[in-house]
Amino acid sequence: MHPKLTKAWKALPEQFRRELHTKLFSRTGIYFLSRSRNSQRYNRDPANFAGNIQQVKDTYIAEKRGSNEVNQNTERRFLDIIDNLVMKNGVTRSTFKGRSSQIVSSVLNKYTLDKREISVLDIPSSTGSASLGIREEIEKRYAVGSYILADLCFDIYYDKKRECVFDDEGNLLQVKFKRRFVTINRAHRCGLEHTRFVGIVLFPAQVWSWFLKKKYKFTGFDRYQHIRLTHPDVDTLLDDKYFELKKLDVFKPIEGKFDLIISFNLLMRRYFDDTLIKLGIQNLGRALKEGGLLVIGEDLGVTFSVFTSRGGQLMEIGRETQRPDHWLLYQP
Ligand SMILES: C[S@@+](CC[C@H](N)C(=O)[O-])C[C@H]1O[C@@H](n2cnc3c(N)ncnc32)[C@H](O)[C@@H]1O
Repeated sequence: MHPKLTKAWKALPEQFRRELHTKLFSRTGIYFLSRSRNSQRYNRDPANFAGNIQQVKDTYIAEKRGSNEVNQNTERRFLDIIDNLVMKNGVTRSTFKGRSSQIVSSVLNKYTLDKREISVLDIPSSTGSASLGIREEIEKRYAVGSYILADLCFDIYYDKKRECVFDDEGNLLQVKFKRRFVTINRAHRCGLEHTRFVGIVLFPAQVWSWFLKKKYKFTGFDRYQHIRLTHPDVDTLLDDKYFELKKLDVFKPIEGKFDLIISFNLLMRRYFDDTLIKLGIQNLGRALKEGGLLVIGEDLGVTFSVFTSRGGQLMEIGRETQRPDHWLLYQP
């Protein structure tokens, strides 16, 4: 927004701004469109093409090995590439170190587990960067017996010849051209703000994606460079068995039982409708041990719900939100 407009907007009373934002901008899709215009501009930078991830990871590792210090630009490049990666269901890979640690810390101060050693499921973990800080918070209070980083997808495949990237099921994610690259899946396309109006406005982009999917067909994993989407700092910890990776879909039954389940920035209205969000919560609830804790949240303001399992039933025991318009009031 123009700085003068931003200033005038901020001068309005907060309650009025919130109402206007929800009813006029958010629910109509205008807000979504204004943001996607910005991100499309950002998207075009070929430096943020996902095929570059391995090269950035190698630079990161070399810098760390050389001086034990990583250039800020290298970390930034990794973040930007990950930020631009949109999965088939419209969920972005965006994540960063320190994200959600504060919320997890305050939840663990308030709610305790009746155990010394616990098992943890962190879903979705994306690159695992945010999990580094979350695990530190947990270890201040408990011994960690196992810590699973789970996500729908951990691997992508880079076709160097045609300059395009596929996910681990062969779905096209990005195509690079000389001066820009194209993201095939629109971020948040199943979310609250992606209205019919948005669908109409962005129809030409959809046709373009459809055409690219027809043209850039997947021809086999062995032909492409395999790239693991985990952060280089997490890779070393995986080798040491500090973390374990598991491919899981939150909307399908989850194997195993855990004392603590953390789920940030996935089960929210920006990505899914209420029915799917509830299904995700039920699945996570079934994977919770008796007396365990399930923390679901997003980092827009401080927003989270805490659940426990009593007598096999999932119960919400705490909730905080600064974004009620965005946040589903759960009734599992
Ligand atoms: C915005 S990132 C959030 C990562 C991390 N929890 C955080 O807060 O920084 C969302 C992640 O959800 C993953 N994801 C999307 N759909 C999923 C599903 N159905 N089951 C599990 N993970 C999924 C994406 O691959 C992506 O890595």
